[in-house]
Amino acid sequence: MSTITENQLPGDEEEKLSDECKELLLTLPKERGWATLHLYQFQGFWCQPAEIQSIMAFQKHFQASDSDIVLASVPKTGTTWLKALTFAIVNRHRFPINKNHPLLTSNPHDLVPFLLELTNLSCKFPDEPRLFSTHIPFPSLGTIKESNCKIVYICRNPFDTFVSAWNFFNRGRPKSLPPLSLDEAFDMYCKGIILCGPFWDHMLGYWKESLKRPHNVLFLKYEDLKEDGVFHLKRLATFVEYPFTMEEERNCVIEDIAKLCSFETLKNLEVNKTGTFFQHFERASLFRKAEVGDWVNYLNPEMVERLSKVIEERLCGSGLSFPI
Ligand code: A3P
Repeated sequence: MSTITENQLPGDEEEKLSDECKELLLTLPKERGWATLHLYQFQGFWCQPAEIQSIMAFQKHFQASDSDIVLASVPKTGTTWLKALTFAIVNRHRFPINKNHPLLTSNPHDLVPFLLELTNLSCKFPDEPRLFSTHIPFPSLGTIKESNCKIVYICRNPFDTFVSAWNFFNRGRPKSLPPLSLDEAFDMYCKGIILCGPFWDHMLGYWKESLKRPHNVLFLKYEDLKEDGVFHLKRLATFVEYPFTMEEERNCVIEDIAKLCSFETLKNLEVNKTGTFFQHFERASLFRKAEVGDWVNYLNPEMVERLSKVIEERLCGSGLSFPI
């Protein structure tokens, strides 16, 4: 089964699908993709063709358990970071935060699998709670929606998310695909055409659910984690029911986890400097700059005005906002 991420090669991506899926594709709205030939609009969001088949299988077969922890996000909003942090928190009794920690020798994506990878890859540490991640929008989450499991959602300001995505997909796109210019990608982004987009629907789906069921859905922002890591790590640990004890706080376990999972630590590990994930993406491309506000180096004033308007119109009245 394929992942919802970016691993398809143009040309053969649609050939390999089941007849059922190929027939379905003929009926779906279609646009050029960022790292594949096409994106299709399926269940209201933009997907790569192989993901559609995987999502249909996931929706049919995956059985959520109340003890599951699901990390959800739009691509390029801090998924890798959230995987590292949650893995370290949940497994800290089994893997104390020291020089033998699995995060020092494994990429976070190898420790916390994507839901759509499940038939290919089994999680390295499969005990309860099961820890998964996904880019699937909330309404398409199948049995997870009705379960009592914990969902942690991370989002990031759309300006930086766009810049991160544009850099990542251009670096990782198969060489047989032409590059996507910044202008063209930006236009698509503002129209919602990006993997799992529109980004506003994705965010609002989880945002509204977090307001309705705060015990089940925790909504985090990348920028908040950057600003006050310790505070948000405590929230995260309490939410997934692995709260830090007073003794752990006194012993600086929270700070140690923050440091272990920091951009600087992960980026400089041999395991993250070399090799690939999802078949052909370089692991190193997961760790670019990790800055808040890097978009100022890419977007001109007209682009800023256009995206600001999109955000204002789409998020208006929701209570969710991104100060720039
Ligand atoms: P930039 O491209 O702005 O540098 P995802 O994990 O969802 O693909 O998101 C990737 C973004 O998160 C990239 O942003 C990447 O640099 C940043 N990132 C990766 N690891 C991080 C970490 N440990 N702490 C903070 N940011 C991190």
